[in-house]
Amino acid sequence: MSFDKPHLLGIEELSPPEITTLLDRADIHAEAERGSRDHGQPLKGLTQINMFFENSTRTQASFEIAGKRLGADVMNMAMQTSSVKKGETLIDTALTLNAMHPDLLVVRHPHSGAVKLLADKVNCAVLNAGDGRHEHPTQALLDALTIRRAKGRLHRLNIAICGDIAHSRVARSNILLLGKMENRIRLIGPPTLMPSGVADWGVEVYDNMETGLEGCDVVMMLRLQKERMDGGFIPSEREYYHRYGLDAAKLSVAKDDAIVMHPGPMNRGVEIDGVLADDINRSVIQEQVEMGVAVRMAAMELLAENLRERRAAA
Ligand code: NCD
Repeated sequence: MSFDKPHLLGIEELSPPEITTLLDRADIHAEAERGSRDHGQPLKGLTQINMFFENSTRTQASFEIAGKRLGADVMNMAMQTSSVKKGETLIDTALTLNAMHPDLLVVRHPHSGAVKLLADKVNCAVLNAGDGRHEHPTQALLDALTIRRAKGRLHRLNIAICGDIAHSRVARSNILLLGKMENRIRLIGPPTLMPSGVADWGVEVYDNMETGLEGCDVVMMLRLQKERMDGGFIPSEREYYHRYGLDAAKLSVAKDDAIVMHPGPMNRGVEIDGVLADDINRSVIQEQVEMGVAVRMAAMELLAENLRERRAAA
């Protein structure tokens, strides 16, 4: 088997065969979701705890649905009302949960590296559902699956990632994954929203959409992460939309069959035109959500197999 990791913490530590293994398994679940809905209950008897220290709609919901459809007992910890609010440290929370013997912990946290810190303290499989600006591995995997299904391959594509790169863990995980699979990656956005050190990432950087999008196969838009900005990154949303918001006119320089992606939540009229986002001939945004469930099923199933093997050998 080519996926033997105990946790899914980031794309950085995955090899191309491991990525392919995850996507192949997810494809099977995606087909089952569209058909029989029979996934064979591979997580039966296992307990999955979702701990979201940051707000989430689609990521939390899809992890919950994925776990339930695979037969796990799923619990959502309400982090807003938990002892974390009383000042309990992340490590104390982790140790408390660990004592309840969970099998899968799904964690989102506002600090980069927090999920790894937690994974080092517990005896179960940990999945990173987004840590600060660092990584969001299941998002990059679901984006990759969506691209592979739409384009028939996941290599040698021209892929533009546009907007607020600096604050985005989605961008970071996607750049890592799409780079490992040998695609040509272009980052497009205002210089104020480019991370420092971007010149060493093996990507092309553009500060205008008209040249950056030329001939692209895939156009991935990002949300302006206002909660991570301390002011002064863009002149105004109106101006930003004018220069960087994706609409049909800007998209016209990309390939005729270019697909449009967005991880959600979207700011319509800020980073993307609402009509284009809903255009089923161009936008694969709904497929991304659909593939999110399949990818999370695959990740939890493979980690559960590894966990069972490790426990049997212990
Ligand atoms: C992203 C996230 O939380 O990092 N959303 C998501 O998981 N679908 C992107 C975002 O918040 O803009």
